[in-house]
Amino acid sequence: MAGEKKTFQLDKETLVIIGAVCLVFLWTVDRIVSSKDPVEIVLEAPKAKQAEQVETKKEVNKANVPLATGAEPIDKIFIQSGCAACHTIPGIEVARGREGPKLELGTNARKRLADPNYHGSAETEWEYVQESILNPGAFIVEGYRDRVMPRWYGQKLSAGALDKIIKYLLKIEEVT
Ligand code: HEC
Repeated sequence: MAGEKKTFQLDKETLVIIGAVCLVFLWTVDRIVSSKDPVEIVLEAPKAKQAEQVETKKEVNKANVPLATGAEPIDKIFIQSGCAACHTIPGIEVARGREGPKLELGTNARKRLADPNYHGSAETEWEYVQESILNPGAFIVEGYRDRVMPRWYGQKLSAGALDKIIKYLLKIEEVT
């Protein structure tokens, strides 16, 4: 009898301990979740705002585009230069433009060079991307119009900024 009672008491203690552990666990989870909330809001708010700005800025105006020195992070170059307003650029959250083709030059630069309609002067993929930024009229991607992409990027992108852009774009491969 006594033995049975002891077992019952032990079980009760165990239950209390398990209950306490659960409470501590729930409290910890609650703390983690609630401490994350404000951080997430802070991180997401500017992103949403940037997307809005890019969305409403369809017309890229030469006077409003600052000179990119190449010291800026790549996403900043794409946004401040207006590329993000017209192009979807994988890896750049706010670049969802549809005026121009999705930039997947890791796959497409090769295709353009091999296109029988290509009559530009680029011989390498690097040169193709450079030419399509500095002299967009050299080759018009099928399905898009000439004279939509600005022709003054040579004046707004330093050699360093241009190199950074080309390097980034050539890494993007088409995902099918
Ligand atoms: C006002 C809209 C607009 C802006 C701003 C713009 N582009 Fe374009 N872009 C286009 C259009 C339209 C085409 C397709 C026609 C053509 O080939 O010229 C194009 C074509 C391209 C191509 C060739 C793509 C391919 O698949 O062959 C590249 C590369 C490119 N743009 C890069 C850029 C970069 C980098 C910037 C910013 C420095 C930029 N564009 C800014 C509209 C734009």
